[in-house]
Amino acid sequence: MKYLQEIGTITNKTEIAQGIYDVILYCPKIADIALPGQFINILCSCYTLRRPISICGIDKEDGCIRIVFEIRGQGTDWLATLDIGDKMDITGPLGHGFTIDNNKRTILIGGGIGVPPLLSIARHTGKNTTALLGFRSKDNEILIRDFIGYGSKVMVATDDGSDGYHGFVTALLERLLFEQLLNEKQPRYDIIQACGPRPMLKITAAIAEKYNIKCEVSLEERMACGIGACLVCACKTKDKSGEEHYLHVCKNGPVFDAKEVVW
Ligand SMILES: Cc1cc2nc3c(=O)[nH]c(=O)nc-3n(C[C@H](O)[C@H](O)[C@H](O)COP(=O)(O)OP(=O)(O)OC[C@H]3O[C@@H](n4cnc5c(N)ncnc54)[C@H](O)[C@@H]3O)c2cc1C
Ligand code: FES
Repeated sequence: MKYLQEIGTITNKTEIAQGIYDVILYCPKIADIALPGQFINILCSCYTLRRPISICGIDKEDGCIRIVFEIRGQGTDWLATLDIGDKMDITGPLGHGFTIDNNKRTILIGGGIGVPPLLSIARHTGKNTTALLGFRSKDNEILIRDFIGYGSKVMVATDDGSDGYHGFVTALLERLLFEQLLNEKQPRYDIIQACGPRPMLKITAAIAEKYNIKCEVSLEERMACGIGACLVCACKTKDKSGEEHYLHVCKNGPVFDAKEVVW
C-alpha cells in the first residue's frame, strides 16, 4: 500500500446540508494515485489521532480530491472551521477501494454520510448505474444532482417520508431486484456497491446473496493509525472455507466483498 503525507490546500468549501461540508483539496501527489473507495486521514488541530474521511471525487488533472464530511465531534467540528486557502495535513490515499468496471451494470446503495464515496464510482460507471440513496429526511439529502450529472439513475428513500420512498433504502434495493427478476427483458445487474451504517450494509449483503449478485461493502470502524499498525480497526472476516480471521478495516478494507464479512 503506497501512501503519502501531504499538506493540502482548500480551494473550495460549501455547506451542502446542515453540518455537512463539501471540500475541494489541492493535493496533487495524493490525487495522482487515489482510487475510488480509498480514504485520507486528516490531522485535526491538536488531536494526535487523525480522522479518516473518504475520497468522494478525484481530479488528477487539477491535482485535487473532493471530500464530504459531517460534524460528529470535536475533530470534524474543527475541520469545519477551515476555509478556502487554509492548509490540511493529510495522509493517503489509504485502504483498498471499490472494483471499478465501466461495463458492469452497477447498483450503488448509500446511507447518509455513506453516500459520498459512492460518487467516485458513479463518475466511472455513469449511465450503467442506479444509485439508491437513503437519508433521514429531505433536509439531509446530499449529492443527488452530482449522481444525475454523471448519467446515473437516482432513487431516493427518506426515513420520514419527506422525499422519495418512505422507508429504508434497502427496501428500494429489494424492490428493484424483485422487479428485475419478473422482467426477463431487463438486463441483470452485475454488482452492488454499498456504504453506510452497518445495519444497512448487513441487510444489503443478505439481499445480494438472495439474488446472487456480487456485493462490495465499505465498512467504518474507529481508527487510529490508518495503516494497519495499531489493530484498533479489527474486523471479523471469513475466508472461502469459512475459517474466521481478523482483518484491518484501514489496510485490508475499508471495501470488502460482503461474503467475507462476519456480520
Ligand atoms: C474509512 C472511513 C471513511 C469515513 N469517511 C467519512 C466521510 O467521507 N465523511 C464523514 O463525515 N465521515 C466519515 N467517516 C467517519 C469519520 O471518520 C468520523 O465521523 C470522525 O472520525 C469523527 O471524528 P470527531 O473527532 O469529529 O468525532 P469523535 O469525537 O471522535 O466522535 C464523535 C462521534 O463520531 C463517531 N465516530 C468516530 N469515529 C468514527 C468512525 N470511524 N466511524 C463511525 N463513527 C465514528 C463516534 O462514535 C462518536 O459518536 C469515515 C470513517 C472511516 C473509518
Ligand atoms: S487504524 Fe490502526 S490498524 Fe487500522
